[in-house]
Amino acid sequence: LGVTKGFLIVNRLVDAQIAEETLDPQDWDAMHTLAHKMVDDMLHYLHDVRERPIWQPIPAEVKERLQTPVPHEGTSAEAAYQDFSELVLPYPMGNIHPRFWAWVMGNSTPLGMMGDMLAAGLNSNLGGGEHGATYVEAQTLDWCKEMLGYPADASGLLVSGGSMANLVGLAIARNVKAGYDVRQHGVGAGAGRLMFYASTETHSCVQRALEVLGLGSESLHKIAVNDDCTINIAALEAAIAEDRAKGYVPICIVGNAGTVNTGAYDDLERLADICQRENFWFHVDGAIGALTRLAPELRPLTDGMERADSLAVDLHKWLHAPIEAGCTLVRHADQHYHTFTLTPEYLKHGERGLASGERWFSDFGIQLSRGFRALKIWLSIKEQGIDKLGRLIAQNVHQVRYLAERIDAQPDLERMSPAISNIVCFRYRPSISALDDVRLGSINKEIVMRLQESGHTVVSTTTLNGAEVIRVCINNHRTVTDDLDVFVAEVVRVGGEIVAEWGG
Ligand SMILES: Cc1ncc(COP(=O)(O)O)c(C=O)c1O
Repeated sequence: LGVTKGFLIVNRLVDAQIAEETLDPQDWDAMHTLAHKMVDDMLHYLHDVRERPIWQPIPAEVKERLQTPVPHEGTSAEAAYQDFSELVLPYPMGNIHPRFWAWVMGNSTPLGMMGDMLAAGLNSNLGGGEHGATYVEAQTLDWCKEMLGYPADASGLLVSGGSMANLVGLAIARNVKAGYDVRQHGVGAGAGRLMFYASTETHSCVQRALEVLGLGSESLHKIAVNDDCTINIAALEAAIAEDRAKGYVPICIVGNAGTVNTGAYDDLERLADICQRENFWFHVDGAIGALTRLAPELRPLTDGMERADSLAVDLHKWLHAPIEAGCTLVRHADQHYHTFTLTPEYLKHGERGLASGERWFSDFGIQLSRGFRALKIWLSIKEQGIDKLGRLIAQNVHQVRYLAERIDAQPDLERMSPAISNIVCFRYRPSISALDDVRLGSINKEIVMRLQESGHTVVSTTTLNGAEVIRVCINNHRTVTDDLDVFVAEVVRVGGEIVAEWGG
């Protein structure tokens, strides 16, 4: 029936003599002109980024224009670009601006941007195969291993970001350490609940990974932290013993190289020792901080990281690759490969021609079709060199330490976290009035909102020991020290304004 139907459709098309079409431009010269304009506009946009508000609310009429139904007929490429210029460009997230210090985000670079354009032009599929792009990803992964002190025969995979990089590492941990064939029998087929350990400061993506892996959030035993926000080793040892007594099966410790709240680095050597002694999988979430390894003075922070069985790192954070770019490295390539590989007849590879290659990237992750995200990273590393990238990481750490000093010197500001790497938390606390934590929390949240809404600075908030605090994360190659002075003055000014309005 299907064949007959298809035959009829083809016949009808032939009968109607419909002209064959393509999505290529009819006027290539016009496309050249438009494409050059797009590049010029974007480079100007980046060059002048400091002059514009970081962020601004999106007017209702703009939102309305972004809710129109799908067009049946196309417009011109020029008109489509005009819509982008009017509806999107004026309302950026802001993380390309020198005073964007919220969450943990990189800025990207002009060459990184062009890398994404070149990759889209080639439209290569990095599932695998014998073409230039796969060699670029392989070399990029080799460079990641070299940068992070990982063995050359380790395996790796570029992924969308830190969450995916952790998911890949933890999937391998589960499969290798479960003690039975999880791929065949599924989770829960073993003797007891598989247990993972990580500090209470660990990023939420680790819990989400365990949920997605079918283990459930109860498989994550969250361990208390020390005053410096690093995992408490005694509490960890006690938790392992307690879980064993319950009949659970401890299999993995997740160490942090840079926590999201305060930028703390767990004692990775001690965690590696415990994993070695207990035959656990050692996974490190280095989404933020693994790359501090590029700055010689910061290297001690990640001592022990090179002993991890798997390591997650975000390249769209401190390497400033355009979002999305993350990476998982795995010490034993076979363990990585056997967690994911599944090759049906129609994807057979390893022989001659385009499908050459015994192991494809798709054998190391859950995506079959994969974008050429390696190119933007590869170009950036070539352009900048890792020494300069390391200097910029150290620069951000120095800037945070400087900011911590300014906070300490300002009587109306109270520092709420150590300044270990590129994150510091503090709150506005006017010295002349005695406000309780709840009131201070509301004032500090309002300060952050007003700074965002005025387009001046974007920072975020978090809760530390029950207190709402302002969190500054400088992961920004455009920030200069002056920005920090201006910021401190503005926080104090806005804080005073709010107290005056709301009453002290
Ligand atoms: C420590 C840590 N791990 C993981 C992640 C998740 O990374 P992504 O947002 O790239 O998925 C983040 C994000 O900020 C993070 O800070």
